[in-house]
Amino acid sequence: MGPSAEIPAFPIYDAYEIPGMTMTPYISHFPCNWLQVLDAIVDPVHTSFLHSRVSRLQFSEGFGELGEIEFYDQGIRLFATNTRRVGDNVWIRVNELIFPNFTQAGAAYAADGTRQRYFGRSSFTRWVVPVDDTDTRVIAWANFGERGDPHEWNTPEGIDQIEQGEVFDRPYEQRQRHPGDLEATTGMGPVTIHKLEHLMATDKGVAALRRKLRRYIKRVAAGEEAEQPTDLATGPIPTYGGDTVMTVPARNSIPDGELRRRVAAKAMEHQFAADKLVGEERDRYVIERLKALEIETRDW
Ligand SMILES: [Fe+2]
Repeated sequence: MGPSAEIPAFPIYDAYEIPGMTMTPYISHFPCNWLQVLDAIVDPVHTSFLHSRVSRLQFSEGFGELGEIEFYDQGIRLFATNTRRVGDNVWIRVNELIFPNFTQAGAAYAADGTRQRYFGRSSFTRWVVPVDDTDTRVIAWANFGERGDPHEWNTPEGIDQIEQGEVFDRPYEQRQRHPGDLEATTGMGPVTIHKLEHLMATDKGVAALRRKLRRYIKRVAAGEEAEQPTDLATGPIPTYGGDTVMTVPARNSIPDGELRRRVAAKAMEHQFAADKLVGEERDRYVIERLKALEIETRDW
């Protein structure tokens, strides 16, 4: 999009070089407006409903839990955390959007809240690309390995399920009974009319996405330079999409929602503090701090 003389530098994200990760490229087709597809990344509560409660269990059981939702609005980066309780564990899942269309989240299958996991990474590294007003291609890698999803899911069907909860090519009845992201996004029509929506508290991320996008469009239209992901770092750009699962049992002294909010806020603080570090150094820093946080919470 835009004049070819102004093609921005291609962003190099740290996600391209995670040791031990197998990255399988894929393209998914959504015949609707790209914003409908992009919305999902800043709407972390949809996994509890669309992918669990109203459909069949498309990922793991833990996804059906309702979490504490928080948003972090940092210029061209927008993060949404969903912090669930699964038994004695607290599971923090970080969804990540880097404007205009780069997205990552936690694992679809490797993280279910039942096993400890420190700074697990995203099951996908993806761009939501508009073809025209009513046609979208998701161009992406699916990530497999210890910090991504299990290798068993590295099949065409497995990748469809990671992308949208179900395989894409299904009979009409199945699509009706067990909708995935494809049915949710295209079912709203080729271009949704935002005026007819009733946004609520959990849609704060969706509202922020639209507000920001409008602001950036106006800026570019006014001839100002757009902020680029490459402005975020001089080396590989640190990314955040992923899961952390810590053992933090519920207790009588603090309401559980508050406990989970505190744990998630601290965990994000540790990740932000490592923003200038790269690769293994960043991993080591974050993982050490998360493990220390897990111990620290025993005294809360
Ligand atoms: Fe989804």
